[in-house]
Amino acid sequence: MIAIGSDHGGFKLKEEIKKYLDEKEIEYKDFGCESDERTDYPIYAMAVAKSVQNKECDKGILICGTGFGMTIVANKFKGIRCASCWNEDVARFLKEHNDANIIALPGRYINVSEAVAILRAWFGAQFSEGRHSERLKMIEEIENKNMK
Ligand code: RB5
Repeated sequence: MIAIGSDHGGFKLKEEIKKYLDEKEIEYKDFGCESDERTDYPIYAMAVAKSVQNKECDKGILICGTGFGMTIVANKFKGIRCASCWNEDVARFLKEHNDANIIALPGRYINVSEAVAILRAWFGAQFSEGRHSERLKMIEEIENKNMK
């Protein structure tokens, strides 16, 4: 189950991504927003991050204008690893090296086919483990020291 959310900057792309997920029969839960009226990205980033953190959803997709605001909020949640991706290569590395459980997309800078290619690369990649697992352990230690 995928959690998906956007602000107004990502709304149109979110609706297109939902069509792709429907086509592929990938289940998702839409946490909003509901239109391209101006709203605030922390609302949707928080909802998606919580649903992944508490395992209601397996992974998340967040879309705002740049992907940056969503990323900043999502990474405030312990156990969440999220970054904004603008092409397939970085999306693949986001899974292979960082085992990210949420991907953010820059809705104002990529089109629908680029977004779909990015998601396919991220969905299709596997975490590489090895030295990358050691780095995730280091992140976990930092979280344990710095987050409640
Ligand atoms: C909204 O104008 C914009 O700031 C937002 O979509 C996002 O890009 C923030 O990081």
